[in-house]
Amino acid sequence: MKRFHVTTFGCQMNEHDSERMKGMLESLGYSEAPAREEADLILFNTCSIREKADERFVSHLYDARALKRKDPERVIGVGGCWAQSVKDQVFRDYPFVDVAFGPGQVHKLAEFLTSDSLTAQGFFEFEGFTGHLPGKRARDVHAWVQISAGCNMKCSYCIVPSTRGREVSRPFEELVEEVRVLASEGVREVTLLGQNVNSYGTRLRPEPRKFSELLHAVDAIDGIERIRYTSPHPAHMTEDVIRAHAELESVCQHIHLPLQAGSSRVLKRMRRTYGRERFMDRVALIREHVPDCAITTDIIVGFPGETEAEFAETLEVVEEVGFDGAFTFIYSPRRDTEAAEFVDEFVPHEVQTERMERLVEAVQRRARERAQRFVGRTLDVLVDGPSRYDPARLRGRTTHNKVVNFDGLAAPGEFVSVEIATATSQSLTGSESLLSRVA
Ligand code: 5AD
Ligand code: SF4
Repeated sequence: MKRFHVTTFGCQMNEHDSERMKGMLESLGYSEAPAREEADLILFNTCSIREKADERFVSHLYDARALKRKDPERVIGVGGCWAQSVKDQVFRDYPFVDVAFGPGQVHKLAEFLTSDSLTAQGFFEFEGFTGHLPGKRARDVHAWVQISAGCNMKCSYCIVPSTRGREVSRPFEELVEEVRVLASEGVREVTLLGQNVNSYGTRLRPEPRKFSELLHAVDAIDGIERIRYTSPHPAHMTEDVIRAHAELESVCQHIHLPLQAGSSRVLKRMRRTYGRERFMDRVALIREHVPDCAITTDIIVGFPGETEAEFAETLEVVEEVGFDGAFTFIYSPRRDTEAAEFVDEFVPHEVQTERMERLVEAVQRRARERAQRFVGRTLDVLVDGPSRYDPARLRGRTTHNKVVNFDGLAAPGEFVSVEIATATSQSLTGSESLLSRVA
């Protein structure tokens, strides 16, 4: 029996796509190898969001080349956003690659593997949702659900619209049915995935649908106890979606709302289609309807032309909002994006890193302060497994998406009540409340 090994880089959509790749390969009779060295088929699901992502991946690719030199029968496949962004060039620069495919072309991998063709092939036109392929879930009680592919926004820094193409939503009924089947298989938490989830459905025919409708329909499915989604766009964050967090029991008390920058002028040059006021207004609406909601974000520092005063506005927003967490990035120019052409205005690297340090300090301090509200409370935790730091303890997540390391006896996939003792910017600690086991 042939064996495959997949290495995944990048976002949750890629994690989802990799699960589908694995499911598809198993249906072709392959089995998963525990390590790359033992695989006949070495696959990479790549990301290209920042330059660092490219560099990291390429060193893995050379590792695969070394393995192929030892055993030339090995097949090397490269899928995902990096593959898409370098297209056929990949075969010129990395001639040991046998097959390359974009994010909308995972099924072509099967075609390649089952054909007798020995020549290298690339597949890059969007043809179908990876969500249609059989899946192989990494965790029994959690599933990714791809609700749309692609992105119609034009954020000037972002490579995704060019790697994942125009936005297409999956049919509403198909998604509801998919989640019903998942629930019957024991799934209790779903994460709805899209590049811009809250624009879901507006172009569906014959009947346009709203993202909030989808939240209602998924909430109504028996067995689904937690619904998460990522990522929404602040410009499309309508009141009905925010209300769903308050009204629907299974919709988690966490919203990841990517800010990117605090200055309206920078946001305009990023083509984010909202300004500082609109973002703050969305935060106020979330806090009004769902006071305990965790809000996390993404922030880019050192975007071309960002002045010290504009960066200070980002710090102001961080102070004002008090995010529960943030992913912070130094701007990195990406091929074929508008901002990559603002060369004359590139912010020097020393300035970028210095701003980054100040940003991280503010983000972490505010997140730590915010997290103190959990101390002394008893929270429902969905258990993932053993704690990463101390295998004698357990690790799980609250509805706020906070990681909790705790003492207890629960099994992975169980919901338990945990009394929270301490809180840092990153995680909580506590112990299982033995009096009140949840469900
Ligand atoms: N440089 C730096 N960060 C970027 N992101 C996207 N493109 C870039 C880029 N060119 C960040 C954004 C996005 C997150 C996934 O990655 O903050 O929300
Ligand atoms: Fe990376 Fe973006 Fe592609 Fe996800 S969609 S894999 S983050 S480039």
